[in-house]
Amino acid sequence: MKFLPLLAGHSPSRASVTCTYRCGDACFHDAPNTSDNPTFADVLGAVSRRGALKATAVVALAAGTPLALAAPASAAPEAEPAGRGRPKPPPGTDYKRVRPNTLDAVVVPEGYEQGVVIRWGDAVLPGAPEFDFDNQTAEAQAKQFGYNCDFAALLPLDRWGLSSLLVTNHEYTSEQFMFRGYDRNNPTEEQVKIAWAAHGLTVVQVTRGRDTGHLRPKMSRYNRRITLHTPFKVAGPAAGSDLLKTAADPTGTVVLGTMNNCAGGVTPWGTILSGEENINQYFGNAETVTDPVKRKRYARYGIKGTETTRKWERFDARWDIAREPNEAHRFGWVIELDPNDPGSTPVKHTHLGRFKHETANIRVAEDGRVVAYSGDDERFEYIYKFISKGRMKPGDSAHARRHNMTLLDDGTLYVGRFTGDSPAAEIDGTGKLPSDGEFDGSGEWIPLASGTKSFVDGMTAEEVYVFTREAADRVGATKMDRPEDIQAHPRTGRIYCALSNNVERGNPGKEGATEPNPRLNNKHGQVLEFEERRGDALALTFSWRLFLVCGDPASPDTYFAGFPKDQVSPISSPDNVAFDKHGNLWISTDSAGALGINDGLYSVPLEGRNRGELKLFLTVPRGAETCGPIVEEKIVTVCVQHPGEVDGANADKPASHWPDGGENQPRPSVVAVWKPGRRGLSDIGS
Ligand code: FEO
Ligand code: CA
Ligand code: CA
Ligand code: CA
Repeated sequence: MKFLPLLAGHSPSRASVTCTYRCGDACFHDAPNTSDNPTFADVLGAVSRRGALKATAVVALAAGTPLALAAPASAAPEAEPAGRGRPKPPPGTDYKRVRPNTLDAVVVPEGYEQGVVIRWGDAVLPGAPEFDFDNQTAEAQAKQFGYNCDFAALLPLDRWGLSSLLVTNHEYTSEQFMFRGYDRNNPTEEQVKIAWAAHGLTVVQVTRGRDTGHLRPKMSRYNRRITLHTPFKVAGPAAGSDLLKTAADPTGTVVLGTMNNCAGGVTPWGTILSGEENINQYFGNAETVTDPVKRKRYARYGIKGTETTRKWERFDARWDIAREPNEAHRFGWVIELDPNDPGSTPVKHTHLGRFKHETANIRVAEDGRVVAYSGDDERFEYIYKFISKGRMKPGDSAHARRHNMTLLDDGTLYVGRFTGDSPAAEIDGTGKLPSDGEFDGSGEWIPLASGTKSFVDGMTAEEVYVFTREAADRVGATKMDRPEDIQAHPRTGRIYCALSNNVERGNPGKEGATEPNPRLNNKHGQVLEFEERRGDALALTFSWRLFLVCGDPASPDTYFAGFPKDQVSPISSPDNVAFDKHGNLWISTDSAGALGINDGLYSVPLEGRNRGELKLFLTVPRGAETCGPIVEEKIVTVCVQHPGEVDGANADKPASHWPDGGENQPRPSVVAVWKPGRRGLSDIGS
């Protein structure tokens, strides 16, 4: 049996090299939320810290116990757990679960097929040269598929799904895997420019035949690359703010590029939202800032220190806080892109606030107003909600889309406060369920700002939008365990949020366990389910419960909505969520190495007697994480991000050869999975 190394001092399982490039070694630094905001959670935390000793023992046992389910290197799909009279699985989840493994491959259930849709370096725009790993140029990269695909969306161009637009984010670059002999202390200008071109987004048309799910890219008038040079229009109430003005843009309304785009969402009007996440790591020399207020504001976003990992500040002043103090304020937003119009200017929506946006997802209220949910993915950060003032225009005309693209620019921004209903003493940090049988409670949305009006004492509305974390600290928002993807169920309206992990919970000086974040040293994360009062998207109060408390099901600190734990797959660090047409939830993970296994994609029913029956559908290659799942009726796609990104590996010593095999370099790619049937494709999970 083979396990990935368990790492100490980092995100529980992610290679330290991933921490370096993806989030600027956030795990090495204390989480930047040092606020002592007046939450009920803090009161609970004081009690919970007393349970820390016990919690550590439980977690250590769990971490040191190899999973009985982990498979040898030749692993294949696993037989379903035996059970007499076991009923047929609910629609959409009827497949032979995949056995957790450490293979350098994408592993899918028996009877399913897979194909690589597009790889880093594949042609997107006319004139793109064939990818040549050893002779890459910035000019080529700007016409090719970018690096480290994360979010993905498929927008059908016909009603059979034979032709679609595939839109993906390219979250970050991992230079030591992109260039042989990379010298991180002295990157060349061309290497830096390649990285600028490898960030951003791609729009590419993909087509398939009727009897296959293998989507293939095609040159088309829709194809587009968004890079760090693409102009974005700044929209919403902070547009034109002095805080956003730079030497290159004295209007504070035009920003070149987007970066660290993590997850995203498809709006009901057919555009793409995408979250700018770990933007702090790209800005150097914050150390030179002497004004204590400004310094604190940078630090609240993790912007501090001298040189950056990638050294971009040597090649363009905008990455240097000492020379261009406001450029950092122009990232950390939710962006919107209209892939239907390749000539359109994408937008940064300032009314949704500035933080490490994992994503934003839209829900439409009965009266047509739209609600956007977004999580700030860092330890001890918050969950936000925005309610628009205007109403959505139905239809998919360009006119309707133009109107709907303004909806996120006027409304009210709120932040969430989650309160538990169990006695504080019962939330002891071990993950043991309280006596009422659930981690659950109620919550409220606290207003931060609406247009030019601020609801936060001591801050103007502009400041609330640009320094949203500080505003949320001041109103007593609830510190969560890394809020990742958040989406409303299309039928029930319940909202699901992946809370990835938080190994700092309960550390000295940090908040202890709270009912929504009930484990100290939380390595495996949880999935939160909540519903707005009376199901009304516009409500300002809600009820909530933890749907899953993730980890090794054999460990007592896990919970799968009450489903028998001997019949579920192990899971760690939930990241993205998606729904299938049957209403099941699908979850992809980023850090299953904490359990000694590769990351994967899981299905789980939300209703009925199978609620909580978590099953592993696929796993991704060594060192990769599973991102951007799309679960359609007949095709599942995932982004395989950073294959081979394990400590000690680099382009001269690759740890993965996926997807091309042999001695080839690993390439982040999109993969499609389908099930051949007698007549065309069978439904997924049928
Ligand atoms: Fe980029 Fe929140 O993961
Ligand atoms: Ca409770
Ligand atoms: Ca993510
Ligand atoms: Ca991730």
